[in-house]
Amino acid sequence: MSKQLFRVRKASSADAQQIRDVHVLAGKGPDSLERNNKLVLQWMEKRVAADYLQAMQTEVFVVAEADNRLCGFGAVNLVKAEITSVYVDPDFTRRGIASRLVGLMELAATDAGLPALELQAAGGALTFYEKQGYVYVTSPATTGPLWAQMRKDL
Ligand SMILES: CC(C)(COP(=O)(O)OP(=O)(O)OC[C@H]1O[C@@H](n2cnc3c(N)ncnc32)[C@H](O)[C@@H]1OP(=O)(O)O)[C@@H](O)C(=O)NCCC(=O)NCCS
Repeated sequence: MSKQLFRVRKASSADAQQIRDVHVLAGKGPDSLERNNKLVLQWMEKRVAADYLQAMQTEVFVVAEADNRLCGFGAVNLVKAEITSVYVDPDFTRRGIASRLVGLMELAATDAGLPALELQAAGGALTFYEKQGYVYVTSPATTGPLWAQMRKDL
């Protein structure tokens, strides 16, 4: 697949099962901090489509599709002004998919009149979010090497 052959869009309830599957795949992937946390992985694997449908009541979900299947998703809570998830299938990483998902969530946030978004990032995602223009609210140096609160003015 070439870098451009994917598209991003807002999710619908019909995407819930595939969002769940991407969440588990990415959670076990090489870029995931959660892959070594048995409890988190068990929690993820027990989740079902209905859990994501419920989350869609409070969060805007966006998805990426490539090769006729869902390969990434993100979720943003517009009440809390917070990005809560960005996950990409490990077979599809480093092609700009998560960057586009974040861009679409930022658009939803500006449409809703939000001046900024915050999130908690960990591991490789710290560098990823820096590339998207997020800056540290709490630095990894004070919170530990693995995670930090980050923010971007929109
Ligand atoms: C982090 C994650 C979302 C990145 O998805 P992606 O589609 O590969 O990201 P992009 O291709 O848009 O990356 C854009 C840039 O961010 C940086 N980046 C992305 N992943 C990175 C990683 N694992 N380590 C360091 N930098 C990274 C790179 O500079 C990259 O540009 P480049 O490929 O030209 O070098 C994906 O690896 C993932 O799902 N990880 C597991 C779950 C997770 O940690 N989610 C984030 C917190 S909820």
